[in-house]
Amino acid sequence: MSTLSISSHPLIQHHLTRLRDVRTQPAEFRLLVRQLAQLLFAEAAHDLRLRPETVQTPLADCAAQRLGETIGLVPILRAGLGMAEAILELVPEAQVWHLGLYRDHKTLQPITYYNKLTGQATIDVCFVVDPMLATGGSATAALAILKEWGLTRLKYLGLIAAPEGVRALQAAHPDVAIHLAALDTHLNEHSYIVPGLGDAGDRQFGTQAI
Ligand code: PRP
Ligand code: URA
Repeated sequence: MSTLSISSHPLIQHHLTRLRDVRTQPAEFRLLVRQLAQLLFAEAAHDLRLRPETVQTPLADCAAQRLGETIGLVPILRAGLGMAEAILELVPEAQVWHLGLYRDHKTLQPITYYNKLTGQATIDVCFVVDPMLATGGSATAALAILKEWGLTRLKYLGLIAAPEGVRALQAAHPDVAIHLAALDTHLNEHSYIVPGLGDAGDRQFGTQAI
């Protein structure tokens, strides 16, 4: 069974509260998504391999370390975009591969509308990022596409999940570590996470229908 990590970091919990707040407007919402993504990534990246090197400081040689593997970031469009861009600031050398999936409002099935995974994968460890894990359909489909492409070391980073989504993801991809800021109680009749935060894409990009 894959590992499930739910952060208890005070900064993550503080920012998440502001993110959930219905009064938070898109500009602040986007900033919070960025900050949360960076904090969560720092936790999820705890086991990245390092390679030793010597760096010269103004005073002396210093035994040091640098990241020793190729990192891939895969935002699930569109809500994952803000997370990937924020993480890229921490690891600017990472590869970013976009996957476009939306969940059909009637069937709740994930529909893939953008996939530009070309050539042979050259990523050592891949972080799939999407704020919301609801039924788990989108994440499960995205991970299957990435494995088909050739990736073997995958991690999923989400801000809020429902137990239903975690169960579905763990059943389909028991090898993928899941990192979350919060695990909520349930899905409502429209498969929205409760209490959740509403529609993460709409709230980031100001497209909430009235
Ligand atoms: C949201 C969210 C996930 C998906 C989660 O995207 O960002 O990708 O729903 O739901 P699931 O676990 O039931 O598949 P949405 O389909 O609303 O697309 P958007 O990001 O373009 O708004
Ligand atoms: N997608 C969202 O943006 N929010 C939910 O609660 C469920 C799916």
